[in-house]
Amino acid sequence: MATPADDNRLGRAYLAPEVTVFYDRGRCRHYAECVRGLPQVFDPTRRPWIRADLADAQAVAEVVRRCPTGALHYRLLAEEAEEPTSPTIITIDSRGPLLVRGDLVLDTPEGPLRETRAALCACGRTQNHPFCDGACGVNAGASGGTRDQAETSPHKR
Ligand code: SF4
Ligand code: FES
Repeated sequence: MATPADDNRLGRAYLAPEVTVFYDRGRCRHYAECVRGLPQVFDPTRRPWIRADLADAQAVAEVVRRCPTGALHYRLLAEEAEEPTSPTIITIDSRGPLLVRGDLVLDTPEGPLRETRAALCACGRTQNHPFCDGACGVNAGASGGTRDQAETSPHKR
């Protein structure tokens, strides 16, 4: 379970009565699991593109956990932490990043970061270490999860 301080590193918050969804556009690599999973909640053609109030909170959380890059996170009102995958699973996307799921501690420029999901740069060209930033070209041109960019993250990623 992240602390509130960690939440500051999770990107923009989208509030609903039972669940808050966080989105870090700098880590989204457009795998579109969210859009396929709950299109009424994750709609890149709408502003705001995430409407967490349009589905059951548990369903939103379940789809957020499908996000392979860790661009999406959630906090349920009931404060149930996301269970990390165990044992850790590492999947190579031959187009670029390593997709990792597990009880992770990532070495970032801002210090150690507890994580459950991440797309880690394997090509060495990212400007957002240790995360894939798309410099490899993975999912380039895809449209899933690209809205609200100007207003999204407290970070400049
Ligand atoms: S937020 Fe981005 S990386 Fe995550 S599931 Fe949606 S489109 Fe894929
Ligand atoms: S693997 Fe995508 S930027 Fe390096």
